Amino acid sequence: MSVLDTVVFPVAGRGTRLLPLTKSVPKELLPVYDKPVLQFAVEEALAAGAKRLVFVTHASKPAIGDYLRPDDSLTETLRSDGKARLAEALDAITLGRDVEVIFTEQDEPLGLGHAVLMAADHVRGDAFGVILPDDVILGEPCLPEMAAAYDSGHMIAAMDVAAQDVKKYGIFRPLTDTSLGRVVRASALVEKPSPEDAPSRLAAVGRYILDTRIFDALRQLSPGAGGEYQLTDAIAADATSMNLTGYRFSGERHDCGSHAGLLGAANARAAEVTQAVAAE
Ligand code: UTP
Repeated sequence: MSVLDTVVFPVAGRGTRLLPLTKSVPKELLPVYDKPVLQFAVEEALAAGAKRLVFVTHASKPAIGDYLRPDDSLTETLRSDGKARLAEALDAITLGRDVEVIFTEQDEPLGLGHAVLMAADHVRGDAFGVILPDDVILGEPCLPEMAAAYDSGHMIAAMDVAAQDVKKYGIFRPLTDTSLGRVVRASALVEKPSPEDAPSRLAAVGRYILDTRIFDALRQLSPGAGGEYQLTDAIAADATSMNLTGYRFSGERHDCGSHAGLLGAANARAAEVTQAVAAE
């Protein structure tokens, strides 16, 4: 079994920062030039070898299930209308028969830690992936890189941020010099520190490979920042007993939970598509 047999996608949040865009459209389905935000996450999981995709969703977001379910009659209609290219675009997002899709609900968005716990019964193997779809990473797919470098414990995608931005992220407390290399061993993760208190400038972003023992820590969790069950609190608790690693990924991350991030991702994706067309 591949390390990343199972990838979990927490998609039950309210997306309030993007209102009114997200009043009736889930933020995970907002467009990034030619594809919805969620499609990038699914492709990344498949590239990492995932065979089981677990979506932690909410009853108010049925469009996510609609997007992921194949629509054979639409594809057939397009083909019979001579629109083969459009039918191919739908085929391209249709998941293979060897990929299992599971939906589980989070009744209330009580935080990322709570959302990941909702997937516990559906995870196979000793470790599993988590992708936060609103962190769109273009260029080199992030999760496959992480899977190749993973050995044990919890690994989180990491990127260097400016000193004034450390307060927006979980920041690694490295065990070694962070200036070199992609794999950074850490002793802790400090949530949203001030620039003066930050143990480094290496920030955690939305890709994780987690040892399944995280579920024990999640079950014992109390609400943290903002009254939410924070995944980083459970990871921090485990860091005393297992490896915690940051992985400096090669791609370019866009925060598609914000307007500026969505626009930046769309522009970068448009450039990617234009380049690919020119190379054909
Ligand atoms: P965010 O905190 O960015 O999403 O969570 P949000 O809460 O929907 O956004 P705002 O702050 O209200 O604008 C990152 C990912 O985790 C999911 C979200 O759907 C998003 O994909 N999430 C978050 C859950 O599934 N459940 C939660 O309780 C919280």
